[in-house]
Amino acid sequence: MDSDGDGIGDINGITSRLEYLKELTIDAIWLLPIFKSPMHDFGYDVTDYYTIDPEYGTAEDFEHLLKKANELNIKVVLDFVPNHTSNESEWFIKSLHRDEYYSDWYIWENGYLDSKGYRRPPNNWISVFRKSAWHYVPNRDQYYLHQFGISQPDLNFRNPVVVEELKSIIKYWLEKGVAGMRINAVNHFVEIDKDLFGGRYPDEPKTGRPGYGPDDYEYLDHVYTKDLEETYDLMSQFRDVFDAISLRDNLTRVMMTDASTGIKNAVKYYGEGIHYGAHIPFNFALIEDLTKELDARDMKYAIDRWLTYKPLRKPANWVTGTNDIGRVASRFRPELVDAFNMLVLLLPGIAITYMGEEIGMVNGFVPWTETKDQLACNTDDPVNFIDVSRDPVRTPFQWNNGKNAGFSAAEKSWLPVAEGYEHINVASQRSAVRSHYQVYRTLMGLRLRPAFRLGRYESLALNNEVFAFKRWYNDDAYVVVMNVGRTYQVVNLTAFDLIFGQLEVEASSVLSTRTFSDNVHANYLDIGADEALVLRMQV
Ligand code: GLC
Ligand code: MG
Repeated sequence: MDSDGDGIGDINGITSRLEYLKELTIDAIWLLPIFKSPMHDFGYDVTDYYTIDPEYGTAEDFEHLLKKANELNIKVVLDFVPNHTSNESEWFIKSLHRDEYYSDWYIWENGYLDSKGYRRPPNNWISVFRKSAWHYVPNRDQYYLHQFGISQPDLNFRNPVVVEELKSIIKYWLEKGVAGMRINAVNHFVEIDKDLFGGRYPDEPKTGRPGYGPDDYEYLDHVYTKDLEETYDLMSQFRDVFDAISLRDNLTRVMMTDASTGIKNAVKYYGEGIHYGAHIPFNFALIEDLTKELDARDMKYAIDRWLTYKPLRKPANWVTGTNDIGRVASRFRPELVDAFNMLVLLLPGIAITYMGEEIGMVNGFVPWTETKDQLACNTDDPVNFIDVSRDPVRTPFQWNNGKNAGFSAAEKSWLPVAEGYEHINVASQRSAVRSHYQVYRTLMGLRLRPAFRLGRYESLALNNEVFAFKRWYNDDAYVVVMNVGRTYQVVNLTAFDLIFGQLEVEASSVLSTRTFSDNVHANYLDIGADEALVLRMQV
């Protein structure tokens, strides 16, 4: 929500809408980075971790947000981006000028001259945002490493002074009363120790994956720049900072981590033994393991897989979208919005909702000329940029059917509003009898019941199209059932142990013909295409 009419969302805007979050009974909000930044990567390029970007507000505005949130019992979690700073940060500028203290804060390397006398980067490493991960700076006559954009030089995590500074930043915000941090791109923190290779960073091997060229990140296997073992130790060091502060003031603090990686690495972020890691290592299973062609077996497999690999006693978490990944309505289809919200909110564990998923927002259309995302701009391709652009999922939140969907009083919002906002908005869904918003609220209510809070879990692909899971606590049993196929199906829920007789509808997807308190037979359930139901066993 934009409060000052410049077209860009801000802190006071969020404060003014906390009541909405309360209405949804959300416990906590995680804000994308709000720190000082030239915004080349949407704030993921920070110039000063202690200052709030004026575009978003002032220190007082933030205090005010915390105070209001506290009154409403909503916790505030910040996004922390330690892998890299902005190339406009004071740290970087000092490092560039070989300031004694900062000289070693980034990864600086000499290039070499090839046989024709051209300057070449130190090795073949490629950035996540495409092309060489090295950038030459004449001032220092060296290259710096940037695993993301050119404007995002990587900090040197092998320098203990850097690590200490990062811990101080966490401390600073936690002491201000922030309830936690979501730490960004953690698996990129550490690069291989070049001393193991005679002082030169080694080339990464090619993946040989078809369809990728030498400028693409996928072209190389990132064995020296990603998922290094040292990362997990750093995580437990960071976690100690969270715990120390909680111990002191007795307030709960949460550490969340963001790592796009294989499942075995992903669950390592929980920590091992006495080395605690994150409370919430983002689980991307519902994003990475499911495609548009998903069927019931894929769903069961993706969900069970995460639950299997996760340490037994740690809570799972479920994520269907972020600022980087397309909307559920667009990635799958709009008819599955409620089904996915049922997964996120009713599977065992912590639920994470990206703004707008509760009302089923769709990807916006952002033309090349209005594209802001660096990743998209770096393609230099006014046609295919759309495949990678993250702008479509970042379009303004849709409050009502007015100008800029009620997001901003400006002539133009920073990104255009997505299609369908006339119907897909909070105001209209609030007053509708059936809407994604109403379903979401119902699910949030169900979530508080013991069967969903504490209960056990079992899942079945009843056939190729119908996925179902049971949650139960003592005698109180529920079946969540969804037909993710394109045709009507008849299924038998007695395939679950101790499910029989009649079940009552507690929640249904918006296009379902069933409503609250309708009865269905366990042994014969006719379920329409895209229909999703939460059923409670009658005893
Ligand atoms: C994370 C963020 C993404 C950002 C990147 C670099 O993946 O979610 O938006 O571009 O890290 O900081
Ligand atoms: Mg790094």
